[in-house]
Amino acid sequence: MTLAPHPALQLYPMPGNEARAEALAARLGPAVRTAGLWLHRFPDGESLVRVQPPEAPAALVCTLRDPDALSVPLLMAADTLRELGATGVGLVAPYLAYMRQDRAFEAGQAVSARLYARLLSSHFDWLLTVDPHLHRIDRLERVYTLRSRVVHAAAPLARWIAAEVARPLLIGPDAESRQWVADVAARVDAPMLVLDKQRHGDLDVSSRLPGLSAWAGRTPVLLDDIASSGRTLAVVLEQLHGRGLAPAVCVVTHGLFAGDALQRLREAGAARVACTDSVDPPAGVERIALDEELALALPETAGLPKETCP
Ligand code: R5P
Repeated sequence: MTLAPHPALQLYPMPGNEARAEALAARLGPAVRTAGLWLHRFPDGESLVRVQPPEAPAALVCTLRDPDALSVPLLMAADTLRELGATGVGLVAPYLAYMRQDRAFEAGQAVSARLYARLLSSHFDWLLTVDPHLHRIDRLERVYTLRSRVVHAAAPLARWIAAEVARPLLIGPDAESRQWVADVAARVDAPMLVLDKQRHGDLDVSSRLPGLSAWAGRTPVLLDDIASSGRTLAVVLEQLHGRGLAPAVCVVTHGLFAGDALQRLREAGAARVACTDSVDPPAGVERIALDEELALALPETAGLPKETCP
């Protein structure tokens, strides 16, 4: 294949995102190519970013798990690309951090969702992400002033459940989960329940599972957008013991799995755990790929002419 002299978009993966960027470029044909980005950490913790000089509009590819460590080099990379002549700089961030702190829950707290949105919006022209945690902020545009596009994980999650789980009963662990649980339940034609959750602290969560006799023999599928400490799912798993249902499955969009989260889910009774690859799934977690959905959305989000990509 002869490569056009200049790509229409260059994808710069932050460290750890190389496979994600390659998968997108492979789906989008020769107009979209990956380019080099190197990050050096000095012994004192400062970072030095180096990028391959851009020949086209650029997009950084960086999923935002561990955002505090990533954000300074990410913003420096964006500004460096612009200084070196990139005519536009976008961000492909399958997991978008800081969306859960969407209001001040106590006096004096930062509304991190709004502040982080302001930070990213002032360095990037556009953002492509996957199901950000939209709850009290109901649309990204309410806080992000850049051009944004949200890819929904419901279709790939539903395909995985339909292929892998016999007679599912979808369980949403809290009110926020209703939106994605309802969508996936309709796609797999399964019954659903949504619980009430109280969070008393980072690692302290309670909820109450109702009677399940109507669902005997079904496989409970706990579905949430994020598993972080794993407590939200674990507290539901623990209540499923002895209820006459098949071994439980956990399915999440963004598997952050902080600390011992995965071990907790196993100990609480999760027979299988699956998540999308918005964040690389750890060993033992089944992967639900998103590159097809991201590749479909990327050209329009990046403003590429229609005929550019297959
Ligand atoms: C919260 O509203 C989210 O939808 C998740 O339920 C939550 O982030 C899960 O957190 P954890 O795994 O720490 O309980």
